[in-house]
Amino acid sequence: MPLNIIIGAQWGDEGKGRITDLLAAQADIVARYSGGDNAGHTITVQAEIFKLHLIPSGIAHPGVTCVIGNGVVVNPAVLLQEMEQLAARGVSITPERLKLSHKAHLITPAHIALDKAAELLRGADLIGTTQRGIGPAYTDKSSRLGLRAGMFAHPEALGEAMHQHITAKNQLLQLYGADPLDPDEVAACYTGYAQRLAPFLADCSVYLDEALQQGRSVLAEGAQGTLLDLDHGTYPFVTSSWPTAGGALIGLGVGPKQVGRIVGITKAFTSRVGSGPFPSELSGTAAERLRGTGANPWDEYGTTTGRPRRVGWLDTVIIRYAVRINSLTELALTKLDVLSGLGEIPVCVAYELDGRRLEHFPTDLDLLARCQPIYETLPGWSEDITGARQMADLPANACRYIEFISTTCATPVTIASVGPGREQYLLTDVG
Ligand code: GDP
Ligand code: IMO
Ligand code: MG
Repeated sequence: MPLNIIIGAQWGDEGKGRITDLLAAQADIVARYSGGDNAGHTITVQAEIFKLHLIPSGIAHPGVTCVIGNGVVVNPAVLLQEMEQLAARGVSITPERLKLSHKAHLITPAHIALDKAAELLRGADLIGTTQRGIGPAYTDKSSRLGLRAGMFAHPEALGEAMHQHITAKNQLLQLYGADPLDPDEVAACYTGYAQRLAPFLADCSVYLDEALQQGRSVLAEGAQGTLLDLDHGTYPFVTSSWPTAGGALIGLGVGPKQVGRIVGITKAFTSRVGSGPFPSELSGTAAERLRGTGANPWDEYGTTTGRPRRVGWLDTVIIRYAVRINSLTELALTKLDVLSGLGEIPVCVAYELDGRRLEHFPTDLDLLARCQPIYETLPGWSEDITGARQMADLPANACRYIEFISTTCATPVTIASVGPGREQYLLTDVG
């Protein structure tokens, strides 16, 4: 059985968690491969809503084993809290069900303090990070200064290394004018985390390889999205990891010949949190209509930070870019129900730049900032579609919207979701 990959096709929050939960019903293993607790993945199972930051979104399926791969940066305090919260809700969290790569890097309080200090220093040019220490943790990894989860097996050595790490980072924090941290306190804390998390350590690359050889099915769950990719996103307004398909292989230690489906998740419109260009962005009442007031759990407010998300019409230039960068085999379209009641739905199909029509997404930020969206306007529908379970249940214009996306992006749309609930989706096979 292959490795199937879930990828965010936009700027994150596309509904990766809910589609992972859906496809996990046919998987043996669900594995996170990048990012850290900057991710916020929501799954809704009947009346229960789970907001997951580090634990893969397969956890609500009792038969699924969850893997946190080497590409993830792990804040052990957040991981332990998430494990406790899930256990308190009756979800089994055992070393048989949850495996943490010994090669995953650790986020420390110094990384979080440095993330906050760097953002403060950027002033009006801030990136708008989630302030979870993601950038500084990956920086230490690249600089070969990082501390890895494997050290949980050696709590005393971890305590000593953490003491040195905090002492060194205090000098940097001082340069930023930020408060220093207490090395003894942090070292003691991490020694405690080590004792609790050591049983969950595994060589996840070996584990996944054996599973694939035995014919078990692995689902790789992306975090963030293609346009937040460190190389392929809207740099510097990106995260510090590789949410794209290549990142899945590096972040799990699995080779490319194992890959099967590569499913790009896209909202029926576009959203973004934090700074950076966004050609199809809306403001005023049009934006409020797509964002919602916050009264519904699915309204566009950050799962991790609670920040209102920037919103705009669907941009198929971005989706075509995501198809190319990730070799997407298909698209899953989420939040189609949110568009119900709109008389007309504009879709960005190309950009205008200096009087020229641009079909491809420009990754030069100066060019992108000058791009004006070119829209095609599709007719909307007024019906409530949250109960639709097959294409025949959808109004003709909703079907047309799905078909338009498939054609414009030259990629099949295989799933459309019409509500946050696990059962609120339909298989479409359009394209
Ligand atoms: P992720 O980070 O990609 O997993 O996405 P988030 O969980 O951060 O944000 C997606 C939000 O949309 C969550 O609140 C989901 O419950 C919600 N959601 C997902 N699919 C649908 C859908 O089809 N309809 C509606 N109304 N909400 C959805
Ligand atoms: P999920 O997995 C949306 C954004 C931040 C910021 C930039 C850098 O839920 O889709 P970071 O803290 O990573 O250094 O912030 O990336 N960002 C996300 N936006 N969804 C996410 O995750 C995100 N993770 C990071 O808002 O603009
Ligand atoms: Mg999210």
